[in-house]
This record gives sequence, C-alpha cells and structure tokens, in this order.
Amino acid sequence: MSQFLFITDLDHTYVGDDAALATLQEALSQHRQTYGTKIVYSTGRSPALYQELQQEKQLIQPDAVVTSVGTEIYTNGMEAYDSEWADILSDGWDRDRILETAGHFSDLLSQPDSEQRPFKVSYFLSEDVAPDLLPRLESALKDCSLEVRLIYSGGKDLDILPIKGNKGLAMQFIRNRYGMEPERTVACGDSGNDIALFEVGDERGIIVGNARPELRTWYEAHRQDSLYFAKASCAGGILEGLKHFEFL
Ligand code: GLC
Ligand code: MG
Repeated sequence: MSQFLFITDLDHTYVGDDAALATLQEALSQHRQTYGTKIVYSTGRSPALYQELQQEKQLIQPDAVVTSVGTEIYTNGMEAYDSEWADILSDGWDRDRILETAGHFSDLLSQPDSEQRPFKVSYFLSEDVAPDLLPRLESALKDCSLEVRLIYSGGKDLDILPIKGNKGLAMQFIRNRYGMEPERTVACGDSGNDIALFEVGDERGIIVGNARPELRTWYEAHRQDSLYFAKASCAGGILEGLKHFEFL
C-alpha cells in the first residue's frame, strides 16, 4: 500500500449511498493518515452549494476542492483560493461576450445566480432541444472568436467554460502540484462533466454503476484498462474500483 491522489465528483458519485459513503470515508481517512493519500473533491457546484452538501452529508475535510466544473480550486478548508489557476483560465475568456451571444438562444434558461461564476456561465437546456441547439451555439461562439468549452451534463445542465479549464485540466494542475504520478492518481464520476476526468492520460478512472447515459456512451467508445466501470452505484462503486486498481 502507498500514497495516491483520489479525486471524486460529489453528486451521484461520492454522495448518493450513505452507508457506502461512511465505509469509503473511513477507508480514505485511514489511508491519508497512514500513507499521506490526498483527497480532492471535484464538483459542478458553486462554493456555496458545495459547502451546503459538505455539512449535510458530513463529508470529510478534503485536501483541496475543485468547484464550478473545474474552474475554481480551493485549499485549506476553502480558505485559500488558487489565483494561479484563475490566471491560467482568464486567458482568452470574455464572459460578457459569451452572455451576449448565448442570449440569442431563447431555449437556454439561465441557472440561478449562485451558479454563475467568474469562469462558468450555466444554463438549463432540455434534452429534446440540445442536439439541435448545441452545434448552433458552438458555431455562433466561434463566429465571435470565442474559444470556449460547452459541457452538457445530466440531460439538463449546460456549462460554458474557458478553453483552458475543465475537471480534467484542473486535476492535472493539482496532480503536478502534489508531484503525484498519473498511475497513482484515480478519478471518479457519473456524468457528462466528468468525462474530462477520464480523457486526460494515464490516470485511473472509476465510472460508478449508476453513470448517466452520456458517460456510458462515451465509455463504450473509449474502453481501456485504465478505466473501470463499476457494478455498484455511488460510493459502493468507488470502493469496488479502488480495490480493482489495488489502491485499497
Ligand atoms: C452542478 C452545478 C451546475 C452545473 C452542473 C453540471 O449542478 O450547480 O451549475 O451546471 O453541476 O456541471
Ligand atoms: Mg455527478
């Protein structure tokens, strides 16, 4: 047994099965204490909604939190905001012009203010309209020379992010910070905004058994030994995957 870097999405991945979560949290805490394993949460939620969930579900204090779909990094119990990461993301990002361009699409319904972040513009978009709208939005943004990432998750959420940011790129930034090998890094997720965690490189990936169709479809097209599709849901699936890769 030795140290590893554990990065997990929260909703419907780490959180969703309270009993399995308790077992997983116990195992991770012990591993951190004994081997110095690092625990990182990577969520689509804003810092405010993350803190609500952390309290409600008594999540153990992580070593770092990535909020807002990879666009904000916090350490030291949310006290330290990583401005180096913010500097990287700000390159070429023009929030006002994105809002203006997306504003022409009446099927895009703005998410609550709390979820609009410095490097994330978020909408609700229905599954019926998405296949037609997304390519049109993409080309409208391109026509304005706006280089961004469009990330559609859970059949309802559309996030517009800087080209230099997503969950996967934030994971690599943190991995380099900790000086951890890709082979000693494992990411877990269940939906569209987690795909970026699985497509970066030699990192290990655990897809929980309850994964959303968009992630299942992606997995079918990208099966490889570094990815494990769990049978169990949520934290139970994570425990299964950590044993499969012999991290635990
Ligand atoms: C979370 C965020 C929301 C985002 C979604 C998918 O639910 O609150 O803003 O669109 O994750 O990334
Ligand atoms: Mg999720």
